[in-house]
Amino acid sequence: MNESQVMERTVSTAVQPILELKGICKYFGGIHALDGVDFDVYPQEIVAVVGDNGAGKSTLIKIIAGVHPPTAGEIILYGKPVEINSPLQARELGIETVYQELALVDTRDVPANFFLGREPTRGKAGIFVDRKKMVEETVRTLKELGISLPTLDTMVRYLSGGQRQSLAIGRIMPWGGKIIIMDEPTAALGVKESRKVLDLVLKLKEKGCSVIIISHNMRHVFNIADRIVVLRGGKKVGERIKAQTTPDEIVKLIVGADML
Ligand SMILES: Nc1ncnc2c1ncn2[C@@H]1O[C@H](COP(=O)(O)OP(=O)(O)OP(=O)(O)O)[C@@H](O)[C@H]1O
Ligand SMILES: [Mg+2]
Repeated sequence: MNESQVMERTVSTAVQPILELKGICKYFGGIHALDGVDFDVYPQEIVAVVGDNGAGKSTLIKIIAGVHPPTAGEIILYGKPVEINSPLQARELGIETVYQELALVDTRDVPANFFLGREPTRGKAGIFVDRKKMVEETVRTLKELGISLPTLDTMVRYLSGGQRQSLAIGRIMPWGGKIIIMDEPTAALGVKESRKVLDLVLKLKEKGCSVIIISHNMRHVFNIADRIVVLRGGKKVGERIKAQTTPDEIVKLIVGADML
């Protein structure tokens, strides 16, 4: 899909969002982390959420990921109101979150991490883990996504930040996650590793997923996003189709015109 098609699709009323957040508020005591935020995700798009430190970005995606319940507001998924009460429930609803550090087990190897908690079994009673199948599936998926790792047998703790990130993204694929959330996936990565992760994000979109990505890196945002949503002080202060905006405009929205 080229940019103008994406634009047409995004502004067209014929295409319904797959996920709609309406009037979302999240208060932590007296802190209004989110204050009446509307946020949509369309099929097969990459939407970037940007904003200064403390703007409410992580809080927004944690609400979608089932980590925090909203104080007020409504979540509509595929046209139906839903409550997302836990990360497990989010996953069951087809919402996958890529955590850079938390979700990998350092002392286990690549296939073990690929299938963590969802290991295929063999034998009549299904009590034996099917290691052969795990390795085959891991190799196939890594190849399909163009992820290269030195060896599969290595403990994940020896992989670089970018390799870990690729693994965390790659292992979503076999499970058919449709909405994928990433909170600053390139924050700790160098130029080359960032590029690989961004390519993976584009690949997820190619495969039919929608991706919500938080990033402070304007170059990364403009490189991959179809749409950019700007938060400031817990409010949505702008929403732009990438082809119709500039990094300069987005930065102005982030800091607020009164700050310039
Ligand atoms: N669990 C919590 N308890 C209390 N306050 C919180 C909690 N989580 C977030 N906040 C507050 O809510 C506001 C928004 O935080 P959030 O983490 O969503 O910001 P962010 O946009 O992700 O910022 P950053 O770019 O620094 O990651 C901040 O003022 C933060 O201190
Ligand atoms: Mg954050």
